[in-house]
Amino acid sequence: MSAAVSYRDYGGPEVLEIVDVPEPHANAGEVRVAVRAAGLNPFDSKVRRGGYLPNHSLPAMQGAEFAGVIDELGEGVTEWELGDEVLGWIGRGAQAEFVVVPKERIARKPADLDWAVAGGIGLVANTAKRAVDSLDLGPDDTVLVTAAAGGVGVIAAQLAKATGAAVVGTASEPHHDFLTRLGVIPVAYGEGEVERLRAAAPDGYTAALDHIGGGAIRTALELGIPAERINTIADHDAVETLGVQGVGGGKKTTVELAEFARQADAGELVVPIRSTYRLPDVVAAYRDLETGHGLGKVVLLIP
Ligand SMILES: NC(=O)c1ccc[n+]([C@@H]2O[C@H](COP(=O)([O-])OP(=O)(O)OC[C@H]3O[C@@H](n4cnc5c(N)ncnc54)[C@H](OP(=O)(O)O)[C@@H]3O)[C@@H](O)[C@H]2O)c1
Repeated sequence: MSAAVSYRDYGGPEVLEIVDVPEPHANAGEVRVAVRAAGLNPFDSKVRRGGYLPNHSLPAMQGAEFAGVIDELGEGVTEWELGDEVLGWIGRGAQAEFVVVPKERIARKPADLDWAVAGGIGLVANTAKRAVDSLDLGPDDTVLVTAAAGGVGVIAAQLAKATGAAVVGTASEPHHDFLTRLGVIPVAYGEGEVERLRAAAPDGYTAALDHIGGGAIRTALELGIPAERINTIADHDAVETLGVQGVGGGKKTTVELAEFARQADAGELVVPIRSTYRLPDVVAAYRDLETGHGLGKVVLLIP
């Protein structure tokens, strides 16, 4: 048997438990990975609270991104070896001692890359890239990035900056120095936000990347940004009703994931880790994530 995070009822973090499940094994074309780190995402919480995904059934496993060590090779897998360190993503079930995935779902982990970082980018880095690419940004752009200190936002802000665009990011004040070091102009959210955003970019904004939803799209429109140059990964209603883009995490590739891992290892992409927890403390880890505040990723370390 092996340990995995699971829930039998919909609800908050308190419904999570560590259960014993039969040890999974790699079938043909698959690898088994002994997980060392698995990131947490708001997506996990939305699904666990119920009503978010059609055809979701209980009991369910949790976690969509992981890093670990290959410890079993399915028949016909020749590209990987036992002991290879890898990172990847999975529909759910990453928060477990073992995951089994198709051999195409993993990328090589640079030897010196921190386990928490490797286990915390499988979902968010591709999402950020898809979102940034959707706006075709360049040096003539001034981009508003909301929730620029969050798991996706902090990567999106850096990828936007790398296009040559000027980037203004919203975050609470404790995260402003960090964003400034990334070359992002920080602006506090909350009352008076629109005026502060106008002051931060007196010549105006040409595009927006939203990672928070709520009133963020209205704010972007109020700033004069055309709807087609606004992308949100957090406000499905705005995509339906306001004509903004909703490009997010589909079409992940391991080629890109390997490149993100290389950049993170080289210090070209900064992936802040908000906190790490051990597997038995998964409830506390999700309580932390679900505060909705903090700099970067929350990651479970396993075992
Ligand atoms: N569509 C997709 O493919 C996709 C993929 C991944 C994520 N998502 C969604 O994208 C959203 C962000 O995900 P995430 O992983 O980045 O979340 P996260 O890491 O939990 O985001 C937390 C961040 O939000 C910031 N924040 C909180 N209230 C804010 C406000 N009013 N204005 C601006 N920033 C605020 C916090 O800043 P402070 O700490 O400074 O308060 C914190 O840094 C979630 O809704 C998630 O479900 C969608």
